[in-house]
Amino acid sequence: MIVTLYSTKSSTKTSIAVSTAIYLANRNEKIVFADLDTTQGSASQWLDCRDDNERLIRIPCIQKSGKYVAKELLELETNYPYVIADCAGHADINGRSALTVSDLAIVPVLPSSLSLFTIETTLNSCIDAQALNPKLQVIIVLTNCHSNRLVKDSQEARDTILESIEDVPNFKLAKTQITSRKVWIDIVAEGKGITESNNSQAISEFNMFMNEVF
Ligand SMILES: Nc1ncnc2c1ncn2[C@@H]1O[C@H](COP(=O)(O)OP(=O)(O)OP(=O)(O)O)[C@@H](O)[C@H]1O
Ligand SMILES: [Mg+2]
Repeated sequence: MIVTLYSTKSSTKTSIAVSTAIYLANRNEKIVFADLDTTQGSASQWLDCRDDNERLIRIPCIQKSGKYVAKELLELETNYPYVIADCAGHADINGRSALTVSDLAIVPVLPSSLSLFTIETTLNSCIDAQALNPKLQVIIVLTNCHSNRLVKDSQEARDTILESIEDVPNFKLAKTQITSRKVWIDIVAEGKGITESNNSQAISEFNMFMNEVF
């Protein structure tokens, strides 16, 4: 199964991609991480930090870029039941190629106007990919949300997203929202995934999201 974190805007893609890979690895799934954002290489560096701690399960990470990305992801899938791909925050060829062979695209969206302005472009890339790859499922998740549920931004963002996907098959909005928490920043230097942190609320929220995804 190929799972691609996709959004043409900066939106916690790498954080969710790395934590998803680590969540699956800790459940004894055989996974490989494909870092398609080779200019930044943030996921590769995050997973390098992980290699320094022998108590953590090692996550194999391969950087891929260029016109053969789709073919290379399919090759990885022959050896690994789960391929988790992280894309750059713009509509580059690597991300668009990945969508043409993915089973699932996870699209994180921040509950802000600037993020919502760009959601159309992101979703259109997914719709274009579905023309070549009809099995592609798309799950949108609101992320970096305010911890105070009384703040209305998240509900307004949900309404806007639901409106943009109402006629599109295979698209859904996750019920779970990922809250903005400092622990997401702290885990990077330790090479950990969010489910390996000591923040029980962040862990249970992410587990709920993973239950919706897999
Ligand atoms: N739930 C969260 N709460 C608070 N901070 C977060 C959360 N998730 C991620 N972050 C932080 O937000 C920043 C951006 O996250 P990240 O690099 O994962 O986004 P991205 O979409 O991959 O960005 P880019 O498009 O540049 O690749 C990072 O500093 C990360 O540690
Ligand atoms: Mg990134």
